[in-house]
Amino acid sequence: MNYRHSYHAGNFADVVKHALQCMCLAYLRQKDKPFWVLDTHAGIGMYDLLGEQASKTGEWQQGIAKLLAADNIPVLLQDYVNAVRSLNSAHELRWYPGSPWLTAQQLRSQDALTLCELHPIDSQLLRDNVSQFHSAGSVKVLPQTNGYSAIKALLPPPIKRGMVLIDPPFEQRDEFDTVLQALSDGMRRWATATYVVWYPIKDPLSVGEFHQQVAAIQGVEKLFAADVLVRSALDRTKLNGCGMLFVNPPYGVTSQAAEVLAFLTPLLAQDRGAQWQAQWLKGE
Ligand SMILES: C[S@@+](CC[C@H](N)C(=O)[O-])C[C@H]1O[C@@H](n2cnc3c(N)ncnc32)[C@H](O)[C@@H]1O
Repeated sequence: MNYRHSYHAGNFADVVKHALQCMCLAYLRQKDKPFWVLDTHAGIGMYDLLGEQASKTGEWQQGIAKLLAADNIPVLLQDYVNAVRSLNSAHELRWYPGSPWLTAQQLRSQDALTLCELHPIDSQLLRDNVSQFHSAGSVKVLPQTNGYSAIKALLPPPIKRGMVLIDPPFEQRDEFDTVLQALSDGMRRWATATYVVWYPIKDPLSVGEFHQQVAAIQGVEKLFAADVLVRSALDRTKLNGCGMLFVNPPYGVTSQAAEVLAFLTPLLAQDRGAQWQAQWLKGE
């Protein structure tokens, strides 16, 4: 396991992912009924953008730094933007929250969050970084756990509403296949959950195949995708964009993704080939 998210924290891909994640959470909070979130690839939960690793790439300068400096930020992004602002002074952007922290911050007393991180050091860092949430709903960090195994072990959960967030590093050649298997395992056990998968886009043409494979999984009736390319994909070995796939998407995301992506894409653009797409792949 070589991947460390601290090199990439707050980059354009995190901005797209975390903006949409916060919109899902806002939707879950609309009902009093409790919800549960399983974050299968949690990372460490909090990142120092001025630390050695983030400074080495400076990727956050092309991501969260641009968003925080923007005018007319849509209301739909306020939960996310406020969460990041709450960690920083008005003069310096230093701390960036990961997906576990963003979810934990949104939990009510009736809700619950389970976090999996396989890297032994990151798993411990994660535990420390979310320890402040003991007064929120129940936040559980599983010690050094494979998120794919957790899908099989923990689903269906006792709380019947919720979301499974799958955000792998895609450093393994067969990671797309592993995600397909995980979705299939998940749907068999908990068919009504929302599954949210982040994926990298290097070659935009290969994304369609992944979409079709997810649409073919037994039980998948409603499938929505939100894709952003931050530059023309001339070099197909680079991370040219990213997407989020939603099985059983929350209404709030499908109706509002276009507004959010239309705002974020020009802001995060790295050349004139930047573009976005938000579409139903199955259902609706
Ligand atoms: C893209 S990062 C996660 C970022 C995080 N979700 C966020 O948005 O803040 C992927 C993480 O998954 C971890 N990881 C890799 N394989 C895993 C597995 N099978 N189960 C759980 N964690 C894994 C890596 O160590 C890395 O920290």
